[in-house]
Amino acid sequence: MATKEEIMQALRTVMDPELNRSLVDLDMIRDVRVEGDQVRVEVALTIQGCPLHNTIEGDVRERVRSLPGVREVEVIMTSMTDEERGQLTGKLRGGQSSLSPLLDPNSRTRVIGVASGKGGVGKSTVTANLAVALARQGYQVGVLDADIYGFSIPRLLGLKGHPTVLDEHTILPLEAHGVKAISMGMLVEESTPVIWRGPLLAKILDQFLEDVAWGDLDYLLVDLPPGTGDIPLSFTQKLPKAQLILVTTPQAAAERVASRTATMAQKTNQSILGVIENMAYFICPGCGTTHEIFGRGGGERLAKEADTELLGRVPLAGAVREAGDEGHPVAMGDDQDPTGQAFREIARKVAERAPATMMARR
Ligand SMILES: Nc1ncnc2c1ncn2[C@@H]1O[C@H](COP(=O)(O)OP(=O)(O)O)[C@@H](O)[C@H]1O
Ligand SMILES: [Mg+2]
Repeated sequence: MATKEEIMQALRTVMDPELNRSLVDLDMIRDVRVEGDQVRVEVALTIQGCPLHNTIEGDVRERVRSLPGVREVEVIMTSMTDEERGQLTGKLRGGQSSLSPLLDPNSRTRVIGVASGKGGVGKSTVTANLAVALARQGYQVGVLDADIYGFSIPRLLGLKGHPTVLDEHTILPLEAHGVKAISMGMLVEESTPVIWRGPLLAKILDQFLEDVAWGDLDYLLVDLPPGTGDIPLSFTQKLPKAQLILVTTPQAAAERVASRTATMAQKTNQSILGVIENMAYFICPGCGTTHEIFGRGGGERLAKEADTELLGRVPLAGAVREAGDEGHPVAMGDDQDPTGQAFREIARKVAERAPATMMARR
């Protein structure tokens, strides 16, 4: 006959596919009864009508039935009471007094906004690559896609599906390549234009800032929309302690649009962590020669103007775009690819200039 402990032990390996944690850890196993070779397990789901109901039920049944001495398994599926769910959300918050690492003044999460003067310079590409590079270095990383109209984080990280909403104030981010992320793109279809206006948009951003259960993050990267519009401005005002990374291309630096963002940061007293020059040069795939097609020195000049450091230069390469389209950022690759190396080197500099404070606790 199997004991209750053996059954609980076996159930430790059954994960909630959405929350990515064991049912036992999530206190979802309400009751286990053993009578001879018959076992009855009661599972409390987080939300009623959970779409993964069948998967979880099947996994529980299979795992318990594989134990010696068990012949029949009855799985009863119920849902959590409001009180149980409240306890669970508390657990998922990772002990942070406020849900969001953003708004808690005592938060130890480093919040880094990725900004640019104009679109198309590779801001989102840089955000996604930095995130996976930092995650590879062992940090807990989140990405908040604050580019509500022009979201591209889900595609860049290969994230499909919708985030689970546990309750009004608990949105669970999706996760890929060790990075947690939230984006407007997870709430609407990619082809649907986002036509919401001012107040509603501001509300979405507030929800992203306040109600996403990130857990304990070392870094939260925020992909800001280009320019110095409402969202970048409200980001800098709401999170005065956040730091900024400015992304530019040699051309954009020459057009001086990039320096407007630097000026905004200086006006709001926000610290600029550094500048990244993207599409800085082209390496000829045939002969390996480096071509600085758009001229040189743009990133350095911007860094000087913003009184900060040039964190690195990323070459222009077809692989960067292709990898982005496939949802596998180049920074994940462990080969000799110079673009992946550039992003990983920049991530090391970021961690050096903005050291994580939570790593020590793990
Ligand atoms: N280093 C690079 N080499 C080649 N293509 C790049 C590079 N960085 C970005 N891209 C491509 O340029 C386009 C714009 O990049 P994106 O990250 O969406 O810019 P932004 O977020 O600033 O608007 C995308 O198609 C992307 O794949
Ligand atoms: Mg973008």
